[in-house]
Amino acid sequence: MMRSRLWVMGLAASMSGGLGCGDEDRAPAGSESSGAQTGVESLQPEEPAQLISYECRQDPARKSTPPGAVASEAQSFRETGRTVGAAVAAWRLAEDEQYGPTIAAQFNQLTAENEMKWESIEPEPGVFDFTAADALVTFAQQNGMKVRGHTLVWHSQLPTWVDELTGADAVRAALTNHIQTVVAHYRDNFPGVVVAWDVVNEALNVQQGPMGGTAIFRDSVFYRELGEGFIAEAFQIASATDPDALLFYNDFGVEGVNGAKSTGTFDMVSGLVAAGVPIHGMGFQMHTGPLDQGPGAADFAANIARYAGLGLQVEITEMDVSLCAIGGNVLGQELQRYRYNRILTACLESPACRSVTLWGVGDANSWLNDNGCTQGMITLETQPAPLAFGDTYARKPAWWGIYDALTGCEYQ
Ligand code: XIL
Repeated sequence: MMRSRLWVMGLAASMSGGLGCGDEDRAPAGSESSGAQTGVESLQPEEPAQLISYECRQDPARKSTPPGAVASEAQSFRETGRTVGAAVAAWRLAEDEQYGPTIAAQFNQLTAENEMKWESIEPEPGVFDFTAADALVTFAQQNGMKVRGHTLVWHSQLPTWVDELTGADAVRAALTNHIQTVVAHYRDNFPGVVVAWDVVNEALNVQQGPMGGTAIFRDSVFYRELGEGFIAEAFQIASATDPDALLFYNDFGVEGVNGAKSTGTFDMVSGLVAAGVPIHGMGFQMHTGPLDQGPGAADFAANIARYAGLGLQVEITEMDVSLCAIGGNVLGQELQRYRYNRILTACLESPACRSVTLWGVGDANSWLNDNGCTQGMITLETQPAPLAFGDTYARKPAWWGIYDALTGCEYQ
């Protein structure tokens, strides 16, 4: 919660001026011509006014960064020296002229949003198509960025032929060939660029019963035919193929300490470590909302410590903060900024935290737009608007919350 020490600057004046949903991202009158520019400069005329500043917990004398004061400086996430990533779509690099320059200026790591998934990379048995994924990795290489490989084994976005395999031998053969071929391709063609792999994604689920939830292995062709051992096998194959890559288990709904899925996941990962399986890290997706829950920042920090205690690295792998529940008004924008700041700080303060990744760049591109803010029969006018940049790549209040976290200012 934004409970204390907010420094309100001109809030009343701004509100009486009619600042509402989305207005933060609009360019001031007369600045339209700046839209043709690319890169950091193009962001400057559209800086949002800062309505509220926060004291930094570590150093109360330092306040959160006021956008107006730094509007002439080409600040970026990557200049903070942290490893900061974004999910990137290859086709959009070609079609949106502001997209690539914004990514190259701001981020030093990327994740392929879809291009490395099984259906994209091996659509037919033994037929590999690296075109789109290679375009992303080439872009990363050219811009001095690293890549998280996402993802080798997942129940979703699988081609039909994999789903229809029967028998342990057939599934094991497909799994082995897929992991070996994909990991070896990046090991050999882009040495040192794809530094980490989400080897297994979302293997667990929660089954609700009268006594509450129970963690179970999610139904998939891999689990059906190979049992839970498919997870250890996948890590072993990936490690044997590229011993230098960092190998992660990645999931959602496991960011806090409590709950059936969190407990089941921690137990599963602990078992892998105890068995000597080559796993190096735990990826927390962190698709979340603007309130300090699901999990709260302190809860997330405690969970990170528990995984660090296993000797693992951790990452935030897919963070976004949906505004569906609260709206894109001033309060929503500020809560979003606060939430990004607190959650990212929880990760960055741990020596085990390797990197943080946002699941997209501009709000207009977010995967959450596919469903909008539909809840049951009701479709809200609100947009998820979950990312750091607005529709025209203007930096949102969320950007400053992230930037402050990256530079060691956790909001009180
Ligand atoms: C999403 C992509 O963002 C969408 O474009 C696609 O249609 C579906 O997948 N967890 C994951 C990601 O691990 O791969 C998902 O990405 C989002 C949830």
